[in-house]
Amino acid sequence: MAANVIDGKALAAKCKARVAQEVRSFSRRPGLAVIIVGDNPASRTYVNSKRKDCEECGIYSEEYALPAEAGQDALMEVIRTLNAREDIDGILCQLPLPEGYDEEAVLLAIDPDKDVDGFHPVNVGRLSTGQPCFVPCTPAGVMEMLRECGIDPKGKECVVVGRSNIVGKPMAMLLLAAHGTVTICHSRTRDLGEVCRRADILVAAVGKRDLITADMVKEGAVVIDVAMNRNDAGKLCGDVDYGPVSEKVSYITPVPGGVGPMTRAMLMVNTLEAARRHGKA
Ligand code: GUN
Repeated sequence: MAANVIDGKALAAKCKARVAQEVRSFSRRPGLAVIIVGDNPASRTYVNSKRKDCEECGIYSEEYALPAEAGQDALMEVIRTLNAREDIDGILCQLPLPEGYDEEAVLLAIDPDKDVDGFHPVNVGRLSTGQPCFVPCTPAGVMEMLRECGIDPKGKECVVVGRSNIVGKPMAMLLLAAHGTVTICHSRTRDLGEVCRRADILVAAVGKRDLITADMVKEGAVVIDVAMNRNDAGKLCGDVDYGPVSEKVSYITPVPGGVGPMTRAMLMVNTLEAARRHGKA
């Protein structure tokens, strides 16, 4: 049986429309500052998309493009200024930073209450202890997709492949908070196929195309593909061998058009939330 394909683009449009509607009821526009350092083409594309999303949602956005050679001190100064600005509710520093920058120090410098990425250790701690916090956009987007599809992780075997700070770890935390039984796999996992086959909900977030093949998924499972890879023809693809896997599972996300648009939408949701918390509604 062919799977239900989860349309991330349509769900993201719905999320953004909701944000836009709420923004219209605010007394002032929420503000997002995006910092980009250097000229990584993928980062440039992401940052351009964020600006478009802000326009669509009625969120004020500002971009700080620093040359790669600007240096840590200059970057920290930009963050300090943005932390103090009343009209800026959210701050995002596009990662990865060029060589020579201390990423950890940068994330620590962002005011946790403006950390719409949810990468500051304070927000990581809040997430893991079940306190209100900014949730990293990609795993937040996955949870929203599950919710929209009526898929409740409660009591289910959830397997997350990948243990990054941005996706794998917060994804596991969210599934756990939703009462899933969570396993995290990574490059040292002894028998990846055996663990993945247990999954009712399988989240792949590694960055290795065709890592998840049909023999590694259970019949009827829900498969969420977070990765963005390129195949030999240069086309975007995920970690999942989409064709054969989609024949076997109940739900699957495509790449592109799956988790990616939801990640972008959740940044708008987090920025709206930041503005609300700053009491400027
Ligand atoms: N680089 C890739 N994904 C992300 C993200 O979600 N946030 C930031 N700041 N940088 C990224």
